[in-house]
Amino acid sequence: MRKKTFILLILFTLSSFIVAGISGKSTSAQTDVSKKTEDTCITSKCHDKMGKEKFVHGPVAAGECTVCHGKSPKHKKKPGKYKFGKIKDVAKACYSCHEKFKPKKFIHVPVEEGECMACHSPHGSSYKFQLLAKGGDVCFNCHDEDIVAGEFVHGPAAVGGCVACHEPHTADYEKNLKAEGTGLCFMCHVDKAEAVHKSEFVHKPVSEDCTGCHNPHSAAKQFMLESQSPELCLKCHKDKEEQLRTVTVKHAAIEMDRSCLNCHDAHMSNIAMNLSMEPMDLCLSCHDREYKTADGTTVMDMKKWLAENTDHHGPVKQKDCSGCHDPHGSVNFRILRNPYPPTFYMAFSPENYNLCFSCHEKTIVLNPETTKLTNFRNGNINLHFTHVNKPIKGRTCRACHETHASNFPNHIREAVPFGSWDLPVNYQKTETGGSCTPGCHKLKKYDRIKKEING
Ligand code: HEC
Ligand code: HEC
Ligand code: HEC
Ligand code: HEC
Ligand code: HEC
Ligand code: HEC
Ligand code: HEC
Ligand code: HEC
Ligand code: HEC
Ligand code: HEC
Ligand code: HEC
Ligand code: HEC
Ligand code: HEC
Repeated sequence: MRKKTFILLILFTLSSFIVAGISGKSTSAQTDVSKKTEDTCITSKCHDKMGKEKFVHGPVAAGECTVCHGKSPKHKKKPGKYKFGKIKDVAKACYSCHEKFKPKKFIHVPVEEGECMACHSPHGSSYKFQLLAKGGDVCFNCHDEDIVAGEFVHGPAAVGGCVACHEPHTADYEKNLKAEGTGLCFMCHVDKAEAVHKSEFVHKPVSEDCTGCHNPHSAAKQFMLESQSPELCLKCHKDKEEQLRTVTVKHAAIEMDRSCLNCHDAHMSNIAMNLSMEPMDLCLSCHDREYKTADGTTVMDMKKWLAENTDHHGPVKQKDCSGCHDPHGSVNFRILRNPYPPTFYMAFSPENYNLCFSCHEKTIVLNPETTKLTNFRNGNINLHFTHVNKPIKGRTCRACHETHASNFPNHIREAVPFGSWDLPVNYQKTETGGSCTPGCHKLKKYDRIKKEING
């Protein structure tokens, strides 16, 4: 209430008290004002219900009918027969005591049109501010009640607390809101505000407008969401939608309950990409056990493997599982970002190894002879070339190397699955070379300085 109006009102109320004092009555809202003064229109015969509502308008409580209705000489002569003349401009009457609402960016249409009585009774009602109905019902006289018909209704909207967010008259913000963007929600959700402000990474739509995901009134899904993850996320992340539609190897983590939220926080995080945990911990939070896949194969317990095999591959050391795997799915087996042969043998083509060659030089398998490209050489003979670069039955990297971790130097395997047999590698490393006695052939040695002659 503006200061000027307030003083006016105090004066008005005071004067009513004086009037009431003279006649020995009080003027509180609940008072029976019926037999107050000769001047009043409220008598046991006339307008006797007036002023008995729970909330009575100030001037009515004071018996001041004429401030709005005007004095009528006719009324004095023939009480009871009097008919009030129509009040031509109701809003003008209201504004004669109440300060006119300042025009702001938003003016609610009924206020603009002076329809104060669409919401208020000029006399009194059962509801505070002489409103015509309780809570949201005042609004639902004109607005569709469907907005609160969703299965999950927002607390304040459910109890008709529309004016907790909306100004009924004029407002500084669109949709006659009391605040803008996230500020509106943070008026009440102070814990979220604090969490958002404290977090290093805030999801862009969360920093802009909570209603990008939440309906402020009600919705079909929990937390007043229109849809749940993944649909909710894919509505904006079109590239991910495209990816999920086209991948041939899906990651169960996305297919599972909660989908994207298994890894990402919808709002904020202290970890980049809004991840809910440090990247590797995240993967290992699920990959701490074996999984049987739909096609009958087994996905190994990676956490155990990494614990038992202490020489970790570079990117694993850097805790970067996504350097090789796309957690959202892929067209390559094992959700790999780039092709890598799933089999022991494969006809050579450098593209088959794009995964490894996205970080390592492909020349290690292209040049038959070398003095520096690889340490896996016998004299100048590039043994990577020898094994891998074959038009048929080229050995793939997996024939010798572990991808994640190993207890042998250079991530050499202890054994390699060959059909149903775990073929041992028996690798021995020396200062200038090494040897192995795999299931493939008898003991063979290599030496970079002094070429070994294997029989
Ligand atoms: C704040 C202004 C205001 C005051 C004060 C006021 N009225 Fe009214 N009254 C109205 C308005 C506005 C209407 C709606 C009818 C119209 O547009 O003329 C109305 C309508 C009426 C009506 C006809 C419709 C109905 O609601 O029954 C009666 C009777 C009436 N008033 C009696 C009174 C009496 C008696 C008092 C004093 C106790 C009083 N009014 C005080 C503004 C006021
Ligand atoms: C003659 C002066 C006068 C007129 C005209 C008048 N009012 Fe009032 N109004 C008052 C007084 C006095 C109060 C009581 C203030 C209080 O209790 O703080 C009041 C209270 C109210 C309140 C409740 C405010 C509160 O804080 O509890 C509303 C709503 C209201 N009036 C609406 C209207 C409307 C709508 C009209 C026009 C139909 C109108 N008034 C016309 C004097 C007036
Ligand atoms: C769309 C419904 C609606 C219309 C139209 C409306 N009001 Fe209100 N008014 C309300 C509601 C709801 C409240 C209570 C606000 C609250 O709880 O904070 C209110 C409160 C008030 C108050 C007391 C609190 C305050 O904000 O000062 C006054 C005075 C008032 N209205 C006057 C008017 C006048 C004068 C008009 C016409 C110009 C009018 N109202 C039109 C809904 C309306
Ligand atoms: C007398 C009818 C009436 C009542 C009662 C009413 N409104 Fe409105 N309201 C309108 C009209 C007309 C508009 C203009 C936009 C429209 O046509 O939807 C509007 C607009 C709005 C808008 C903005 C919509 C937009 O698209 O910009 C909001 C929000 C709103 N009203 C909230 C409320 C709330 C909250 C209440 C209850 C306190 C309420 N209204 C009561 C008639 C009403
Ligand atoms: C928690 C705050 C909040 C509460 C409580 C709330 N609203 Fe809203 N309302 C909003 C926001 C925010 C928007 C703007 C939504 C948008 O732009 O999508 C809005 C929009 C509206 C609109 C315009 C609808 C449209 O589609 O543009 C109407 C009408 C409305 N609200 C009425 C109500 C009514 C009636 C209530 C009480 C039952 C209510 N609101 C309670 C925040 C709220
Ligand atoms: C007027 C205060 C108020 C405002 C403003 C407000 N909320 Fe709420 N909100 C509540 C209350 C109260 C609850 C119910 C709390 C509960 O059930 O624990 C709630 C519940 C929620 C819930 C469900 C939480 C749960 O654990 O079930 C979500 C989601 C939510 N609000 C989002 C929003 C968004 C988004 C906005 C801004 C558009 C917003 N709120 C603005 C008061 C508010
Ligand atoms: C990108 C979509 C999105 C945006 C934007 C968003 N939320 Fe949420 N919100 C969600 C999802 C999804 C959930 C359910 C989380 C879950 O199940 O773990 C949720 C849950 C909530 C909850 C209840 C559970 C909790 O975390 O406390 C509240 C409260 C909430 N959001 C408030 C907000 C507020 C406030 C904003 C704006 C600052 C906001 N949200 C913006 C998607 C969003
Ligand atoms: C309303 C649109 C919208 C929705 C819904 C949405 N996002 Fe986003 N998201 C964005 C925008 C915009 C960015 C910022 C993109 C940018 O900066 O290039 C973003 C960025 C991200 C990022 C990258 C964060 C970073 O730091 O770059 C992740 C991860 C993400 N969103 C996950 C999700 C998940 C999971 C969901 C579902 C719970 C979701 N998003 C729902 C709009 C959305
Ligand atoms: C298994 C965990 C996991 C799941 C489930 C998951 N993500 Fe991610 N997401 C990540 C990781 C890790 C990154 C960061 C590494 C990267 O760039 O791929 C990421 C990055 C992103 C990015 C930003 C970088 C980019 O690739 O555009 C977006 C956007 C994203 N995720 C959206 C989603 C959406 C949408 C879903 C649900 C359909 C989802 N994520 C499900 C783990 C996951
Ligand atoms: C929420 C649990 C969960 C998280 C987190 C998770 N995964 Fe998975 N992942 C699974 C499940 C379950 C499977 C089993 C596959 C099946 O059933 O088809 C799987 C399968 C895999 C596979 C084998 C895919 C195939 O079909 O051959 C790889 C590789 C994989 N995950 C890597 C990762 C990486 C890397 C991360 C971290 C970015 C990660 N996972 C995070 C649950 C998870
Ligand atoms: C250097 C690339 C690379 C990195 C980094 C990497 N992976 Fe892999 N991952 C692979 C390849 C290649 C395969 C397929 C291995 C095979 O079939 O021999 C695989 C297979 C898997 C499998 C399925 C294993 C099985 O055969 O049962 C899981 C689970 C997995 N990775 C999880 C992870 C996790 C968790 C991390 C991070 C700790 C990670 N990967 C890091 C390349 C990588
Ligand atoms: C994301 C980048 C990346 C990818 C992809 C990658 N590596 Fe590596 N690799 C590294 C890094 C980094 C090192 C550590 C280099 C160092 O310590 O000097 C490394 C080391 C190695 C070593 C051990 C080198 C040594 O001297 O001990 C071998 C063997 C190896 N990688 C094989 C592979 C194979 C096979 C593939 C394909 C399945 C592959 N890498 C894919 C980054 C990668
Ligand atoms: C026949 C077994 C075998 C195959 C197949 C094999 N490697 Fe190796 N690789 C080795 C051995 C043994 C070493 C260790 C050489 C040394 O340090 O003495 C090695 C070393 C490496 C190194 C460390 C740097 C270097 O060259 O000395 C990288 C990187 C590497 N291999 C990548 C690969 C990639 C990528 C593939 C598949 C395209 C592959 N290897 C296939 C046996 C193999």
